[in-house]
Amino acid sequence: NPASISTMDVHSPLTDVAGVVAGVGPGVNDFAVGDQVVAMLNSMNGGGLAEYAVAAANLTVKRTPNVSAAEGAGLPIAAGTALQALRSIGAKFDGTGEPLNVLVTAASGGVGLYAVQLAKLANLHVTATCGARNAELVRGLGADEVLDYRTPEGAAMRSPSGRRYDGVVHCTVGVGWPAFEPLMAPRGKVVDITPNFSAMLTSALHAVTLRRKRLVPLLLSPNKADLEFLVGLVEEGKLRTVVDSRFPLGDAAKAWQKSIDGHATGKIVVEMEG
Ligand SMILES: NC(=O)c1ccc[n+]([C@@H]2O[C@H](COP(=O)([O-])OP(=O)(O)OC[C@H]3O[C@@H](n4cnc5c(N)ncnc54)[C@H](OP(=O)(O)O)[C@@H]3O)[C@@H](O)[C@H]2O)c1
Ligand SMILES: *[C@@H]1O[C@H](CO)[C@@H](O)[C@H](O)[C@H]1NC(C)=O
Ligand SMILES: *[C@@H]1O[C@H](CO)[C@@H](O)[C@H](O)[C@H]1NC(C)=O
Ligand SMILES: *[C@@H]1O[C@H](CO)[C@@H](O)[C@H](O)[C@H]1NC(C)=O
Repeated sequence: NPASISTMDVHSPLTDVAGVVAGVGPGVNDFAVGDQVVAMLNSMNGGGLAEYAVAAANLTVKRTPNVSAAEGAGLPIAAGTALQALRSIGAKFDGTGEPLNVLVTAASGGVGLYAVQLAKLANLHVTATCGARNAELVRGLGADEVLDYRTPEGAAMRSPSGRRYDGVVHCTVGVGWPAFEPLMAPRGKVVDITPNFSAMLTSALHAVTLRRKRLVPLLLSPNKADLEFLVGLVEEGKLRTVVDSRFPLGDAAKAWQKSIDGHATGKIVVEMEG
């Protein structure tokens, strides 16, 4: 429909969309034509780069008018990944959690900016890596310590206040387990959201040898309750979507290229005309 918006992740069969319900299938009672919604699509059933998309009711959530389509469309995959990564580190969002120390790598990216904000909502101490140009943004969204990844200190990822990390939300490529190992607390976990083959082997080895410090891969598990929680946080003004850039559907290829280049600040959004 004319308002639908999609964001993308180059490596995933999942897509995000936000828009307005144009029709409902048989047996769907929770939604009506005209509802403003956010949804996660599985591209097996068609993708999101289109004026109309077919979304499953069990992965669709209503949004209030103060959550724009672009803000909503950033959430399902990127914020969902950040949320599940933080939970697997032990973050609690009901005030019962411990004040763990976390590192977020590529904190200026699509997943990282949500991870920083969600970690603060869970009362964690956040160390973040990003480029110098985004340091103020990342600090403004809650990071306690920010390292420029292009400096030797940033590349080393050591906490300036000397903290050992209880968890890492690892959102970039090119940095492997050996670099993290000495930075971790005794039961620290590195959650790799883009595991390559050697990361999968390392994590399997850590699992079978019952390592206390370990690497774990994260594969997002699509989940309506998480999406409701995240949309609710945006509605309450507790979570923000940072939009890097917007492209019309006709320039979707340029949007993909921008995403692949790996230098976005926040989410890239494709908007349908209308
Ligand atoms: N987006 C999603 O929804 C999603 C979900 C699950 C998994 N993933 C995967 O997770 C990875 C991260 O995705 P993303 O979309 O969050 O990334 P992204 O938006 O492409 O990240 C780009 C940002 O990372 C910064 N950056 C690049 N290299 C860095 C480094 N070595 N250290 C610190 N910062 C660095 C860049 O800063 P400069 O511009 O200053 O260089 C830029 O601001 C990708 O491999 C992606 O496929 C993504
Ligand atoms: C996987 O990533 C790590 C860290 O970036 C790198 O050192 C390693 O060479 C990569 N391995 C493969 C098989 O791509
Ligand atoms: C949603 O429903 C479809 C079929 O109706 C089912 O295959 C899928 O597992 C459900 N997904 C979730 C997240 O509940
Ligand atoms: C957004 O709208 C909802 C519902 O109308 C309201 O409860 C909420 O306070 C609003 N949020 C902000 C940040 O104004």
